Amino acid sequence: MINMKYVTLNDYCAKNKMYEAWNAEYGPIFPISKELFERNLSNASMSASYVALENDDLVGFIICKFWNDKFYIDLYDESAWISLFYVKECYRKQGVGSELLERVEYETKKLRKKHLYIGKDYLNFFPGLPVDLKSSAAWFEKRGFTRPYDTYDLIRTIKLDSLDKIPLRNQNINYRVCNINDKDKLINFVKENWPGRWLKETIDYFDNGGTGKEYVIGLDKETICAFAKIGLPTTDTSLISYSLTWRNRFAALGGIGPLGVGLPYRKKNIGFDIVAFATNTLIDNKVSDIIIDWTGLLDFYRRLGYEVFKSYFYMTKEL
Ligand SMILES: CC(C)(COP(=O)(O)OP(=O)(O)OC[C@H]1O[C@@H](n2cnc3c(N)ncnc32)[C@H](O)[C@@H]1OP(=O)(O)O)[C@@H](O)C(=O)NCCC(=O)NCCS
Repeated sequence: MINMKYVTLNDYCAKNKMYEAWNAEYGPIFPISKELFERNLSNASMSASYVALENDDLVGFIICKFWNDKFYIDLYDESAWISLFYVKECYRKQGVGSELLERVEYETKKLRKKHLYIGKDYLNFFPGLPVDLKSSAAWFEKRGFTRPYDTYDLIRTIKLDSLDKIPLRNQNINYRVCNINDKDKLINFVKENWPGRWLKETIDYFDNGGTGKEYVIGLDKETICAFAKIGLPTTDTSLISYSLTWRNRFAALGGIGPLGVGLPYRKKNIGFDIVAFATNTLIDNKVSDIIIDWTGLLDFYRRLGYEVFKSYFYMTKEL
């Protein structure tokens, strides 16, 4: 039996070892840069996240998040998330993963949280368990997690010819890229329609120095009727949404999402057009590929040239 020590992330300094270990195995498909790791770790619950060490060498880790923000998002107060979880291949099947998960569950129950999720956290790496790590699904199911449904990241590769651009359908709406003067109007539009996580992301984007150019909007005269967040190859990691998480795999990745059409404007092709306009804007910015993240609307996006890139199992445990 190996002599394993478990410490919280509060007491572990060599955090670079965590993404280095992850990248050694999964880097070719899910590369985690220092910037991405530090950004996504910034809201982790350090005292409820653990590393397993053998003679001070990293063996595995589990990153746990609780919602400690004043901003209210439905169900977040009663939820906990496993953001990233990894045991080095040569140390698997020796009980390390079980011990790490048990410690997180203990902390989670102590705080009377009701739901524990894999991924889906605010500043997430994954929206669920990636199908590429399929063998881990059975491991979680054996430990009480269920798999209610799946979700997808979609992709479109840009050939850089005239056929890439998508013609818009509804000529009554004007589309354009935002600037800093649109901040209040955009925040109010998102607040009216999606007062949860999407609003929080929009506020954080501007608080972190965003100038507006990572948003496109549809306007009915002066009124915003649709929006899409975009990610440019030049967008700083502190401002990206989940769509650009795996950008290091690509020559020049663009991202779309979240996006939405205001309630009174639905069923008028504006949803199609905001995605078309976002796509065309990214093509003007010379992207090599575009990812639309975390969606189940495969038929809708297929009409805009997008296909499945990655699939994820939602995995939840009720505590
Ligand atoms: C999921 C993961 C963390 C599990 O880690 P682990 O250390 O192998 O987990 P355990 O050793 O506790 O359990 C693995 C199996 O070994 C068995 N086992 C535990 N101790 C053992 C021992 N001493 N001898 C033999 N088998 C043992 C367990 O019973 C378990 O089998 P089961 O799945 O049939 O129940 C690991 O596989 C991993 O890093 N996967 C890739 C990353 C991933 O999927 N992360 C999740 C999303 S971020």
